[in-house]
Amino acid sequence: MDQDALKKLVAEAALRYVPEGEVVGVGTGSTANHFIDGLAALKDRIRGAVASSEATAERLRGHGIPVLELNDVDRLPVYVDGADEVNEHREMIKGGGGALTREKIVAAVAREFVCIVDASKKVQRLGRFPLPVEVIPMARSHVARKLVALGGRPEYREGFVTDNGNLIVDVHNLDILNPIELETTLNNITGVVTNGLFARRPADVVLVGEGGGVSVY
Ligand code: A5P
Repeated sequence: MDQDALKKLVAEAALRYVPEGEVVGVGTGSTANHFIDGLAALKDRIRGAVASSEATAERLRGHGIPVLELNDVDRLPVYVDGADEVNEHREMIKGGGGALTREKIVAAVAREFVCIVDASKKVQRLGRFPLPVEVIPMARSHVARKLVALGGRPEYREGFVTDNGNLIVDVHNLDILNPIELETTLNNITGVVTNGLFARRPADVVLVGEGGGVSVY
């Protein structure tokens, strides 16, 4: 099975976490897109969805799935999203698609975070994937200097603007021994909106497409 077939398989497996009559939080990226396509078949059995990006909102609407504002929703039983890396503690690096801030907000509200990945995303230690950091534009150089002082090699994502009007800096070479601590340290740099470490709020369930099937962690 190729990587995309595994993404589709795992996305379809996540459909059983969708509760009847409720609002579903929906992530961003190619795996989340497969989930949205599958969710279309259940659209009459849910109230709607909260999107973690404009791209996701557009795809949901394209399937006729109502898109609700997070502020108008009083409970969100589940959030389904992909990841760029996930470790055995269900901590993740996310934000390869640049939607990390809204993803983190929706994940913070959701009762259960179901992470859907193909086997290539499973890692022993987080950090081979460059860590995305969303930055207020005027703070770009300041944040970059702080990231260098932490041992990282920041690379500005050329020509990319987030849904919030900010920049993304991808940080290479970070030694992520303690993801919870680093997540906090990075968020404390003035000018950082958020970073792609999801360690303080890890996933509750990780579905991995591997060996032609789906494993649950
Ligand atoms: C989007 O900003 C990311 O957090 C995605 O969840 C992540 O990049 C996974 O994307 P794919 O499902 O396309 O691999």
